Amino acid sequence: MALRTIRLQGDPVLEKKCKEVKEITPKIEELIDDMLETMYEANGVGLAAPQVGVLKRLVVIDIGEGPVIMINPEILETSGEQTGDEGCLSLPGKAGCVTRPNYVKARAFDENMEEYIIEGEELMARAICHELDHLDGHMYTEKVEGQIHDVTYEEEDE
Ligand code: NI
Repeated sequence: MALRTIRLQGDPVLEKKCKEVKEITPKIEELIDDMLETMYEANGVGLAAPQVGVLKRLVVIDIGEGPVIMINPEILETSGEQTGDEGCLSLPGKAGCVTRPNYVKARAFDENMEEYIIEGEELMARAICHELDHLDGHMYTEKVEGQIHDVTYEEEDE
């Protein structure tokens, strides 16, 4: 496993549409491992492949309930609404207010290319929407209501 460089907003790779993953190759397995490691190292709750410079439809999410790997994900259903601050590892130290569905049902493939259905509410719903937007070249900043502001992170005592 290795840390990958997180691309920052302004990098053209973040504005491109990603391609479907056709099969799990050793390269894809390595990418998944590296993305998880990179996300945890950066204290993020989600990371999309284009954020490490790979134009594939692959995201990883962990909202504190264990890693979720979503390959070729597709949103099937949404409902409700939530409005709150959102950040992105491609725009470190910043956050902005975004309205998202409060519930999301999605279909994706896991690291074994097994299809599954996932449902999420609140933070999970927000993370799925945010990460899937990256696969079509979109950043949350396009949806921000009001100003993007600075955030200060608290260091954990460890
Ligand atoms: Ni992001």
